[in-house]
Amino acid sequence: MTKEQAREKMEVLRKELDEHNHRYYILDDPAISDYEFDQKLAELQKLEEEHPEFDDPLSPTRRVGGDITKDFPTVKHKYPMMSLSNTYSREELEDFLNRIAKLLGEDMEFVCELKYDGAAVGITYREGKLLRAVTRGDGSQGDDITTNIKTIKSIPLQLQGNSYPEEFEIRGEIFMLLEGFNKMNEERVAEGLEPFANPRNTASGTLKMQDSSVVAARPLDSFLYFVLSEERLFENHHDSMLKAREWGFRIPYPEKKYIAKAQNISEIFDFINYWEEHRNELPFEIDGVVVKVNSYAQQERLGTTAKAPRWAIAYKYKAEQVATRLNSISYQVGRTGAITPVANLEPVLLAGTTVKRASLHNKDQIEKLGLHENDYVFVEKGGEIIPKVVGIDLKQRQPEAKAIQYITHCPECNTQLIREEGEALHYCPNESGCPPQVKGRIQHFISRKAMDIEGMGSETIELLVNEGLIENYADLYDLQKDQLLPLERMAEKSAQNIIDGIEASKQVPFEKVLFALGIRYVGETVAKKLARHFETIEALMKASEEELVNVDEIGQRIAESVTGFFSEEANRLLTERLKNKGLQFEVVKEEGASNALEGLTIVISGNFERYSRTEIKELIEKHGGKNTGSVSGKTDLIVAGEGMGPSKRKKAEELGVKIIDEHEFARMIS
Ligand code: IVH
Repeated sequence: MTKEQAREKMEVLRKELDEHNHRYYILDDPAISDYEFDQKLAELQKLEEEHPEFDDPLSPTRRVGGDITKDFPTVKHKYPMMSLSNTYSREELEDFLNRIAKLLGEDMEFVCELKYDGAAVGITYREGKLLRAVTRGDGSQGDDITTNIKTIKSIPLQLQGNSYPEEFEIRGEIFMLLEGFNKMNEERVAEGLEPFANPRNTASGTLKMQDSSVVAARPLDSFLYFVLSEERLFENHHDSMLKAREWGFRIPYPEKKYIAKAQNISEIFDFINYWEEHRNELPFEIDGVVVKVNSYAQQERLGTTAKAPRWAIAYKYKAEQVATRLNSISYQVGRTGAITPVANLEPVLLAGTTVKRASLHNKDQIEKLGLHENDYVFVEKGGEIIPKVVGIDLKQRQPEAKAIQYITHCPECNTQLIREEGEALHYCPNESGCPPQVKGRIQHFISRKAMDIEGMGSETIELLVNEGLIENYADLYDLQKDQLLPLERMAEKSAQNIIDGIEASKQVPFEKVLFALGIRYVGETVAKKLARHFETIEALMKASEEELVNVDEIGQRIAESVTGFFSEEANRLLTERLKNKGLQFEVVKEEGASNALEGLTIVISGNFERYSRTEIKELIEKHGGKNTGSVSGKTDLIVAGEGMGPSKRKKAEELGVKIIDEHEFARMIS
C-alpha cells in the first residue's frame, strides 16, 4: 500500500467507524456486527501505528482510552455554567410559573425534561470536531477532561451532516447506567474492596481519573440538554435539541417522554406525575424534572439572576422513603471475613418493589443512627441494589426497646471479631475454619476470572465442603472421580467434566493463579502488575513491604496485605501444594525477554528503518516497558524515528522528556 493509499484507507475507516458508532449508540440501529466493528477498528489501529504522520486526535481509536492525564488544566468557561433554581414544592413551582407569566405578559410554551443525576459537562465543537470538554467546576471555570470524555461512546467526536454552527458549546450530564454500576460494585465486593457509594459520585469521580482506559471501561452515558453559540440558530430550545440530535448527539428522547412540550401548568404536572410514577423503570437515576421556557426570545427577556436563569426551574422529587419495622439484624460473612450487617425488615412496598432487607454498612453507621430493637426505620432506595436505612421514626419506639449491640463474635464460627485501625468493617480472623470464608475462597478460586474451572459452580463447592471432601482450594487437585459420583445430582458425565476442568486449570497463567489465591486487595489488575514485576511466586513471597510499594501503582495497603498473606504458614503450605500439583507459578517468558525497560512509560513517534512500529511496541512490552500513545507528564522516554510529529516534539521539549533514536533503543534492550 502506498502512503497515499494508506491515508485514504484511514480516512474511510474513521468515517465508517464513526458512522457505525452513531448508529449503534445514538440511533440504536446497528448495521454491522460487533465482530465486524472490532475488525475495522483493529485495521485502523494497525494503519495508525504504521503511519503516525496521519495521526488524528479524534480518531475512533481514541475511544478505547490509554492516554494518561496527570493534571487536569483549569479552563475558564466562555459562558458561565449557571445552576438551576429548584424546589420540592408544587405550590412554589406554580408561583414561579405565574410570576414569569406576569413578567412576560404573553403566552408561553414550556419544555419539560428529566433532571439527570450525574456530572455536568460543557463540550465545545469547532468545525464539527470535538475540541474540548470541561467540567462545571465553580461555574466560571472547570477542569479540562477532554481525553476522558472522548471515551464515552455516546459523545460524538465528529458531527454528522453539515448544518451545525462553525463553533458552539453543548452542555449535558454524564451519568452512570445503573446496571453497570451495580455490576461494578458486585465485583468490588468480591475483591474485598468497599463498594462505591452511589452512581452520581462514581460518575463524577470517574471523569477525573488519570487513566482514560479505566474511564473507557466504566458504564458512562450522556444526555445533552443545552446548546450555546454566538449566533442564534433556532427559535427555541426544543428545535435546537432536535437539531442537535441530527448532528449526532444523544439528546433526550421525545418518543420515550424524556422530553416533552407543555402548553400550561396542568401539562407540566402531567409530566411530573408521570415520571414520579415511572422513574424507577429508567436505566439511570434522576432526581427531578426541569421545566424550561421554550422560546429563546422569551428566555432573553426573562434573563438571569446572579446564579441561575429566570426561565428555568427544577422540581425535585423527594427521595422515596417508607417507614417499616426492623425485625432483626443479620451479619453476613464474606469470603475475606468482612462482616456486613443487614437489616431484616417487615416487608414493605418501595419504589415499585417489595423491600425486605436494607444495608446498615457497619458498626459506626448503626451507632450513628442510634438504632434500637424493633425500631421503625425509614428506608430509601437509590441506584444501589439494596436500599439503605436513612433514619428512625422515634415516635414509634417502644419505651423498653434496647439499643442494638453490635456482635463481638462471628455468627458462623463464633471466633472473636477484630477491627483493624482505620477500617470501617469488622473481620472474622478464622480464615481456615469459618465456613463462609472457606467456601467463598474456593468459589473465588474457581471463578471465571480466576482459575475458570469449567463444570464447577458455587453449588458444587457447597456440596464438596459440606461432604467433607475439600477444605481448601488445594484439595480440589486431590479429588477423584469416584468421590464425586455419590454426590447429589452428579452424573458420570458431569463428574468427568469437573475432573477435566480441574486438570485444564493447571495451564492457567501465573497472574490468574495469583488472583485466584484470594489475597485481600489483590484484584485482577494488581495481580497482573505483581506477576509481571516479580515473575515468580518465590520472588513475590520474599518481597518486603518496601519492595512492594516500589512497584508501579502498589500502595501500602496492598503491600501489607501481600506480606501478611505469605507470612502465614497455612498460606505458604497451600501455595506449595498447588505448585507441586503443577499450577503455573511463574511468568512464561518469551525468548529474549528482559526487564531492561521496567517501569518506563515510552512513546514512539515517527517511522523507523530497522523495525516496524508494531515491532517496537512489542519489544517495549517484551522488555517490561509500557507503551502509550501521547506524551504527558508520565512519559519517561520517546523513541523517535523519521518524521516525528512536531507537536509531540514540542511537548516533549516542554516537559523535558528524553528523546532517543532506534539505535539507542536497540542498545538499551540488547
Ligand atoms: S439545564 C442554565 N437541564 O442540574 C441551565 N440541567 O441543579 C442549565 N441537570 O448544573 C441547566 N438535568 O448539571 C438542565 N435536563 C436538564 C438537566 C440539568 C440535570 C443538572 C445540571 C445543572 C444542575 C442544576
